Amino acid sequence: MPRISHLLSSLSSALGPASARLEFKWMKQAAEQSDKGTSLVEMVERRLCGEPLQYIIGTQPFGSLELLVRPPTLIPRPETEDWTLRLAELVDPSPDRPISLLDMCTGSGCIPLLLCHTWRPGSVNAYGVDISADAIKLARDNAERCGIHVPTVTYGHSSSSFNTFKPLLGNIRDASFIHSLKLKPPFNVITSNPPYITRREFKDLPPSVRDYEDHRALLGDPDISEDELSSHLDKGLTFYRIIARLIANQGILADDGIVALEIGSTQANDVGRIMQREGRLNRIDVWKDPWDKDRVVLARR
Ligand SMILES: C[S@@+](CC[C@H](N)C(=O)[O-])C[C@H]1O[C@@H](n2cnc3c(N)ncnc32)[C@H](O)[C@@H]1O
Repeated sequence: MPRISHLLSSLSSALGPASARLEFKWMKQAAEQSDKGTSLVEMVERRLCGEPLQYIIGTQPFGSLELLVRPPTLIPRPETEDWTLRLAELVDPSPDRPISLLDMCTGSGCIPLLLCHTWRPGSVNAYGVDISADAIKLARDNAERCGIHVPTVTYGHSSSSFNTFKPLLGNIRDASFIHSLKLKPPFNVITSNPPYITRREFKDLPPSVRDYEDHRALLGDPDISEDELSSHLDKGLTFYRIIARLIANQGILADDGIVALEIGSTQANDVGRIMQREGRLNRIDVWKDPWDKDRVVLARR
């Protein structure tokens, strides 16, 4: 068995001494608490192979929550945490007038779960849709871990003394998902962090992302062919068009509703235009992330 000091020095060469010491401490804590009996040596070896730390230790902080993370579901990012907390302050619904929320491409459930956790009890019924069965299972496990109620049979927006979140397996590219999942539009808030990476950006992603996280969570134009790579079609915008059409044609947004969409840092103009032209939403705002990059398009009628 490799000696711990040898592993720490290999980690140091790979990550630099400061990060290596921190990560080593977190992996040690996780190994001590591991119910699967995963050893520290195994954890460090996986890290040295390039696996993301969060998948190894199994959790990731997200606002006031400590969410479970499992491959291949996307690990929630700090920029998503930042705008979710900002949205929580902006909307802040009251239990006297509970709202409904639809999160498309919900992944781990991080966005609706943090909103459900932050908003006052009884003020929101949230739904999350994702095409990945792994993601939906993880979102359910996260709801349970965070103490957010998952309704079993209730559809529609019931008023209760607690907030609810229902993760549902579905494909948002098939507009019939609204009907087949028995969702009851319109929703007061629509959120989404859809896949938005272009094929060209995908090729330059670090291996820790490309080799471990679900490609369906990343690629913004999943159907684009090699021939179309250099064309204007490779802009990572497919999912914004789908969401805009759902809003314009399926009536999924309440008249005074709000849409919050995470974007790639160069996509604000395109996504704003798509929401205006195809979603028929006139009021567009762009939020920056803490690193001063355009990160969210907010759209209202
Ligand atoms: C960028 S990840 C976002 C996950 C999570 N909301 C977050 O912020 O961490 C995009 C998610 O979209 C899901 N997805 C991809 N195509 C989809 C589709 N056609 N219908 C529904 N979900 C889809 C992926 O499975 C993935 O979980």
